[in-house]
Amino acid sequence: MSTESIAIKTSGPLQGTVHLVGAKNAVLVIMASLILTKGKNKLTNVPFSEDVFHMIRLLESLGAVIEQDKEQRTLFIDTTKILSAQIGADIMKKMRASILVMGPLLARFGTADIAMPGGCVLGTRPINFHLNAFSKMGATYNQHDDSLTAEAKELRAVDHVLEYPSVGATENIMMASVLMQGKTRIVNAAIEPEVLDLIQALNKMGAQITVEPPASIVIKGVSLLKPIEHHILHDRLEAGTLLLAAAITGGEINLPDAPVHSMEVFLAKLEEMGHEITCGEDGQGVHLKATKNPQAISFKTMPYPGFPTDLQAPMMAALCLASGKSVIHETVFENRLLHVRELQKMGAQRAIDGQPATIVGVDELYGASVIATDIRAGAALVIAGLVAQGDTSMTGVHHLKRGYDDLIPKLASLGGNIKLVDE
Ligand code: UD1
Repeated sequence: MSTESIAIKTSGPLQGTVHLVGAKNAVLVIMASLILTKGKNKLTNVPFSEDVFHMIRLLESLGAVIEQDKEQRTLFIDTTKILSAQIGADIMKKMRASILVMGPLLARFGTADIAMPGGCVLGTRPINFHLNAFSKMGATYNQHDDSLTAEAKELRAVDHVLEYPSVGATENIMMASVLMQGKTRIVNAAIEPEVLDLIQALNKMGAQITVEPPASIVIKGVSLLKPIEHHILHDRLEAGTLLLAAAITGGEINLPDAPVHSMEVFLAKLEEMGHEITCGEDGQGVHLKATKNPQAISFKTMPYPGFPTDLQAPMMAALCLASGKSVIHETVFENRLLHVRELQKMGAQRAIDGQPATIVGVDELYGASVIATDIRAGAALVIAGLVAQGDTSMTGVHHLKRGYDDLIPKLASLGGNIKLVDE
């Protein structure tokens, strides 16, 4: 059992410049996609978060040979010796993104012998879209307790109409479809920037994938994919988290790598609160100067390009101290409001309730002992701790570490009074 906690004291306005790492949600799926290749791949701008280490262990358990160069943020992944399509339950259960190996394993080996994935507790998080799509392509699967085996002598190209633009299902269908004959269409596909980064990586391998408006993905099958070098796109969610940390402390921050065009709804909401946002003209780089009197705002979380569900919790922390009443409707994950209870411990108790969550801004938050229940809840509590009066101690640190590489040192470098405690 981990005894780690994060200790946070009231901090002044955060100030400074931070460089972003690559997006966790892109690197995980791109690592999984390398199963489709045979040879030496190189990924740069890799965030070395815990989920990435899980994916490294998962690929190694299949036979991949992986070298890490943390200083250069680079992974060398040799997939030549991947000979197995079987993954132990202990590895699968560490994160939900493990399910993303199912498509590539089916495409390369015609079989996948895995377990049901684990991950953050964000409601039921079913995988029915993934499994329905694989059966439509001709795979049969057997689910017994926690084990999940799928077989497909030959996968066939079909059209998929997703009832919801699921990120993981879109990615899994694409990866299962690239190596077969014929044309596959995914209608109502997810078009998150991380999905587009996967498409770029697959096309570098030799795949033929195009995106058609408004949200369809067309895959023309090819017979062979080659190893690649790929630079992971910058993490819009790390950018959003850092902007909110600066905003809540009344600070000023410069993120020269921030991908402006992937963050427009979120940035518009920061402006609506009164914060001053300046964006780089070439679509890269965001500067935020916080207002001293932030105003309440309301929003719904939506698939991209809407307000991202992953920034809902950190934004809620900021809204606890805004003037007026904010309303947040979490529409993507029904259970992604567990941070509410923890923010209430910090003084937002009369301010937040229910779904949609109504937040009436308070003058001050207070330090407390709080627990992170998922990656972004952890980010929300850390941000709240920076402005809370008194000391905050957050446990459940492993959740935060799953999604962020070095958030704590970055916040400290901006003037945050925050450190990791391991007793
Ligand atoms: C990915 C991201 C996660 C982000 C989420 C939504 C990764 C590793 N994680 O998660 O950070 O919050 O997209 O942007 O990229 N659903 C079903 N059946 C399915 C699949 C999904 O009902 O088979 C539902 C989910 O329960 C959820 C919604 O669809 O309510 C969206 O989930 P999805 O887009 O699939 O999220 P993930 O790919 O798991």
